[in-house]
Amino acid sequence: MTRPVYVHDLAALASDARSIRSVLPDRVELLYAVKANPDRGVLETLAPVVDGFEAASRGELRRLAEVLPGRSPAAFAGPGKTDEDLTAALAAGVRRIHVESPAELDRLAAIARSAGRSADVLLRVNLPVAAPGASLVMGGGPSPFGMEPAEAVCCARRPPTGIRVRGVHAHLASGLDAPLAGAVAATVVEWAVREVGAEEVDVGGGMAVDYARPGTRFDWAGYGRALAGVLAEHPGVRLRIEPGRAVTAYCGAYLTEVIEVKRSYGEWFVVVAGGTHHLRTPAAKGHAQPFTVQRRTGAGGPRTDGGPLTVVGQLCTPKDVLSRSADAGPIGVGDVLVFAMAGAYAWNISHRDFLLHDPPEFRTGDPHELAEAWASRH
Ligand SMILES: Cc1ncc(COP(=O)(O)O)c(C=O)c1O
Repeated sequence: MTRPVYVHDLAALASDARSIRSVLPDRVELLYAVKANPDRGVLETLAPVVDGFEAASRGELRRLAEVLPGRSPAAFAGPGKTDEDLTAALAAGVRRIHVESPAELDRLAAIARSAGRSADVLLRVNLPVAAPGASLVMGGGPSPFGMEPAEAVCCARRPPTGIRVRGVHAHLASGLDAPLAGAVAATVVEWAVREVGAEEVDVGGGMAVDYARPGTRFDWAGYGRALAGVLAEHPGVRLRIEPGRAVTAYCGAYLTEVIEVKRSYGEWFVVVAGGTHHLRTPAAKGHAQPFTVQRRTGAGGPRTDGGPLTVVGQLCTPKDVLSRSADAGPIGVGDVLVFAMAGAYAWNISHRDFLLHDPPEFRTGDPHELAEAWASRH
């Protein structure tokens, strides 16, 4: 039995990132939200393509400093920043600190003054925008994220000494398709320019990834055209976006081997090595992780009948479900399942110590080539 393996296809990631960059207007800065996948190879691959990185913790600042020394993070964001976090962000030379509340702004100002310097900030605003169909809405209602519009206007008009308010940041929802993301960006920029006189606006991430249709992608070209329209309306503004999931989801795969197939009360279960403690994405989002099957060479033994089945892992909980499929075909012991779209919010959000199973291995390359080699090794 081989341990499950995460495979990052860095060549595919580089090509995806370049094509995203190529359809965005030059005046849109593309930041990568490190929280989606802070893997060293991922960061190194994205570094020459993106305009910067958005970090949301001291750990992410440290990771960026280790992997890309000498390159200051473009943004530092996130709720609940401690004084130590703010101090670390200033010390790391972060270009823009995204401030979540008037109280945080005051603390940052005091820290900056005591260090004899100033801080450049964007005010994170919780704006009411319509986002029908979005998977995760973080704005427009009571929320720990950002400040209410009136508070942001006050902070922008009377910033504490030591603070330069450069503009506005908003990350209002996840799972936005391109037309909706474009409409949200237009609303945010329009508000930011009108109410705050913003020179810079970061409209966040949240571009949709459709796990039910792995062949489809966020319409970056359409979004680029929408952003070009926004810039035409506001020629003085510098626009920034900070996607995570839609950049890296497709470059990661989780490969694992079938330990057992069994029938229970008329339903097929495929039990694989590993589980949601390695790949939490399907449990976190409540979806079936898409997968393909690499048939074990010379396989004998029991197989499912080709009908509907549930793929589960090794955890002692009924929540350890990686996928369900109606048409995966017959699956047997020793087959290798290749779970696609495991490059964002996957290993790094997983409850990896639950049951103290071994961690997965990590490789780079083409996951299907690896699966083929693995399945023929028996
Ligand atoms: C402030 C902020 N920016 C960017 C992102 C990245 O979002 P996504 O990975 O959905 O593009 C997040 C995700 O939670 C976020 O909170």
